[in-house]
Amino acid sequence: MPPDPHNAPAGGAGASGLAPDTVVRHARRPMERRQRWLPWAKIAVFLLALAPLLRLVVYGLTDRLGANPVEFITRSTGTWTLVMLCVVLAITPVRRWFGQSWLLRFRRMLGLFAFFYGALHFATYVWLDQWFDWMSMLHDVSGKRPFITVGFAAFVMMIPLALTSPHVVARRMGGRRWQRLHRLIYATAVLAILHYWWMKAGKNDLAQPAIYAIVMAGLLGARVQWALRRLRTQALSGSSRSPANSDSTVSRSRTR
Ligand code: HEM
Repeated sequence: MPPDPHNAPAGGAGASGLAPDTVVRHARRPMERRQRWLPWAKIAVFLLALAPLLRLVVYGLTDRLGANPVEFITRSTGTWTLVMLCVVLAITPVRRWFGQSWLLRFRRMLGLFAFFYGALHFATYVWLDQWFDWMSMLHDVSGKRPFITVGFAAFVMMIPLALTSPHVVARRMGGRRWQRLHRLIYATAVLAILHYWWMKAGKNDLAQPAIYAIVMAGLLGARVQWALRRLRTQALSGSSRSPANSDSTVSRSRTR
């Protein structure tokens, strides 16, 4: 998940939203003065992100989980994992396009919610779907049901992101290493889409996975575009600084 200028370790922005970034520290004081509403907004976002779980609990208690409650819970938690991933990955593009840096303050929380729903989704599979039948799960994960193999890989990649999300761990790791690790979010996102796509392809029902795939392609594509632009700028500034073009070479050749 993408870089967060507000809390991260030195070195800058990470990709996953599961921990902080640097960059804007000096811009902090005036912003803090202006953003008294931020703690309330954080509480609101927290409650909003918790709503899908509360809904499941209420539906469970009022017998509204449908004819197949396990399927309902699996699908609901899977969908919310994917939605949270999309939201977390949308924060940096929205911040860059619309100049809303305060959005970064929510990224760590939302990244942890993505992991939380992923963990609930996985726990539903292990407990309610498979009843701890480790052999059957091993078969699924090792390729009998490829969409599960891919989903499992996506979830495993979220674990180091969640573990390194506390500020103290991020600081100890150092900005650059932390950032590099948090690029795993991009692989998680691709595998999550593949997981959903593969599952629905078996049912010939690709309309919804296609929507998520388009959104994710846009969010990841924006980053590819920025990276290419950065490389081009670096190449240009590198060539303008190269001996052939440098002032010192010119002046040296003039003196010769
Ligand atoms: C980043 C991790 C993951 C994401 C984003 C994700 C997302 C999803 C989504 C969106 C669905 C379909 C929901 C629907 O039909 O509306 C789904 C279904 C499912 N996922 Fe995942 N998933 C992840 C990881 C896993 C893992 C680790 C497992 C198990 C090892 C798993 C097992 C399943 C199963 C069994 C289904 C239901 C299949 C069915 O109803 O036929 N997923 N997942």
